[in-house]
Amino acid sequence: MNSPIWMPYTQMKDAPAPLMVRSGRGAMLELEDGRQLLDCISSWWVTLHGHAQPEIAAAIAAQAGQLEQVIAAGFTHQPAEKLACRLTVRLPFLPRVFYSDNGSTAVEVALKMAFQYWRNQGAGGRRRFLSLEGAYHGDTLGAMSLSGRSFFTAPFAELLLPVDFVPFPQTWLGDEGVEEREAQALEYLKRLLDRSGEEYAAMILEPLVQGAAGMRMCRPSFLRAAGELLRRYGVLVIYDEVLTGFGRTGEFFACQKAGTQPDILCLAKGLSGGFLPLAATLCREEVYQAFCSDDPRHTLYHGHSYTANPLGCAAALASLELLEKQPHRFAEMEGWHLEELGRLAGHPHLSRLRVCGTIAALEVKGGYLHELGPRLRQRFLERGFLLRPLGGVIYLVPPYCLERAQLEAVYRGIAEVVDAEISS
Ligand SMILES: Cc1ncc(COP(=O)(O)O)c(C=O)c1O
Repeated sequence: MNSPIWMPYTQMKDAPAPLMVRSGRGAMLELEDGRQLLDCISSWWVTLHGHAQPEIAAAIAAQAGQLEQVIAAGFTHQPAEKLACRLTVRLPFLPRVFYSDNGSTAVEVALKMAFQYWRNQGAGGRRRFLSLEGAYHGDTLGAMSLSGRSFFTAPFAELLLPVDFVPFPQTWLGDEGVEEREAQALEYLKRLLDRSGEEYAAMILEPLVQGAAGMRMCRPSFLRAAGELLRRYGVLVIYDEVLTGFGRTGEFFACQKAGTQPDILCLAKGLSGGFLPLAATLCREEVYQAFCSDDPRHTLYHGHSYTANPLGCAAALASLELLEKQPHRFAEMEGWHLEELGRLAGHPHLSRLRVCGTIAALEVKGGYLHELGPRLRQRFLERGFLLRPLGGVIYLVPPYCLERAQLEAVYRGIAEVVDAEISS
């Protein structure tokens, strides 16, 4: 097949033909050739309740028959209003909701909000941002600027905003060095703030789990301590919960699990249950108030054609309903992961086993990981598992409809594939 599609993150010169997917149901995907795959990564971490989830599909169909889209400036509609209220009830310290349509734009909005928040108050000197090493916040230029420097960002180096990166004190099960790593990271942050605290508009963090870095996890204590430091220097705190929102960490939001309250929070991916592109950036009242002014230059001049799309909002409301009806679905998965990871403890080829709610990861030991990832991915596909290792990190971010027995089969498959690949 000679497809005109230029695929994301893909060197097209020698890319293998993509797999053609016919349908999805629950945790399963069916390919055109009849093969069935268990989606262990929620198709890029978006599918919350399973593919083609009937209640969400019905909510979208009903909304499509009534109002599919309307301009968002000067107009509103029930799904957008209801959804904004539902989100702010869950996150009462963030009473204002700005809609957009994907994770990168949610971050882009947060970045502009934080920057202009200071400017509107005459503190235009706060032009820099803080982020964490290894962070990933999206692929638009602003969001990319806030992401750790890598070969993804290298071609655009001259275009990126000024950002300083703080070490990420990652941890795993049985880790004994985390306190020292946390202390070092906090010391590093404090030094930056002592030196030039008044130059920073905000710090952005993926709370508890850094996704694209390889599901690297940190402790709530680090987030709390970093938050206190940043407050002391008047720097705004942005949480990027594009991955961690809506139950992924075992609680509704990672900020709740961590016991912290950011000033601005980004949501996307699971917001619509994984059905439609929809995002929201929530903020504190005082951030919002800095834009309410008689001076038109204080306006947040940002928007998208599909801002607050009614279909996306209807999907999100149906998804929230399901989450609220069945919170055990995401709350109990950490226990399942822990049991399975317990069986792999001491495995000669696996290390840094870790879990946070529904997300689990482990690393294949060895120094040849770059080429190992695609090989593992292929072996998993041959066994009927959609897993997409990041280098040598194998991770699971399953939909919440995954059954206990299915999870057990995935872990068994992982151990068998790793054993076979390492000894071959
Ligand atoms: C934490 C985080 N922020 C932002 C993004 C960007 O989201 P999108 O791909 O919807 O632009 C991602 C995507 O993986 C993410 O994991």
